[in-house]
Amino acid sequence: MTLNVKKAELHCHIEGAASPALVKAQARKYGADVSTFIADDHYVWSDFTEFLAAYDGAAALFRSEEDYALLARTYLEGIAAQNAIYAEIFVSPDHAAAAGLTAEAYLNGLGEGIEAARSATGIECRMIIVGVRHLGAEKVEAAARLAATRPHSLITGFGMAGEERFGRVADFTRAFDIARDAGLGITIHAGELAGPESVRDALDHVRPSRIGHGVRASEDPDLVRRLADEGVVLEVCPGSNLALNVYPDITSHPFDALRREGVKVTLSSDDPPHFHSSIGHEYQLVADAWGYSSAEMTGFTKTSIEAAFVDEPTREILL
Ligand code: HPA
Ligand code: ZN
Repeated sequence: MTLNVKKAELHCHIEGAASPALVKAQARKYGADVSTFIADDHYVWSDFTEFLAAYDGAAALFRSEEDYALLARTYLEGIAAQNAIYAEIFVSPDHAAAAGLTAEAYLNGLGEGIEAARSATGIECRMIIVGVRHLGAEKVEAAARLAATRPHSLITGFGMAGEERFGRVADFTRAFDIARDAGLGITIHAGELAGPESVRDALDHVRPSRIGHGVRASEDPDLVRRLADEGVVLEVCPGSNLALNVYPDITSHPFDALRREGVKVTLSSDDPPHFHSSIGHEYQLVADAWGYSSAEMTGFTKTSIEAAFVDEPTREILL
């Protein structure tokens, strides 16, 4: 039942969507060794810092426009097969630069992959440029300035990923002001590994329409009310939260409690193979845990489309 509902995801890091098999193929292409972060057919890491290292290791093996076209196409065709109709991917020009690729080549490659997947399956996709928080405010501002130039027609948002416990949200206000002034949609990672104060700081200093994760807001009833009152949409990634031990099991996860308090919740896979997930798995996880009907599951997809950083004609078609 659930597996057949239309799905959408707003929160997937494109380098984090590379399967171990694809990364191993890239390693063979470039004569690289991946044994520090891939064993057999799975990623190896034991905490968030090691996860970020595995992510960086995989990203370093995508070095050309064609490599990124292949990655985007593979990811999107994979989720289209799970009945996904729309996705937003986080793209990180800093990761491309570390692999020796210009932002232009990076975004063009991703754009080609997106167009190929759309032609093959009908899936729509937009890109959100992210700054990497633990690289510091200057780098994040540079990413925002790049995003503000709209370097590709499929760039519709700006966000910040990386180590949520690095620095203070206030350090990054200028980056978000630049992106907002350019008319981009705004989202920020907060409230996964850091507590409710990180979500409050994000609301106060960044004024996002969406928050990446945000689930730790559930520890503060006033903050939950504020999220509901202000209509802020949470990009909830239950599989990521479980893999990173934020919650011991799905029944302890606040997804349903937040929903019942009137917070707008959506479902995403974050870095699917790292967290042994996929958008289909995320939908199945919550459907099994709380017994949602097809109509309720479709409601999460509708919330995603309503909160998507996409032009109105496309939104109307998707809804
Ligand atoms: N969380 C935060 N930063 C990230 C992630 C993530 O899951 N993936 C890549 N950068
Ligand atoms: Zn994320």
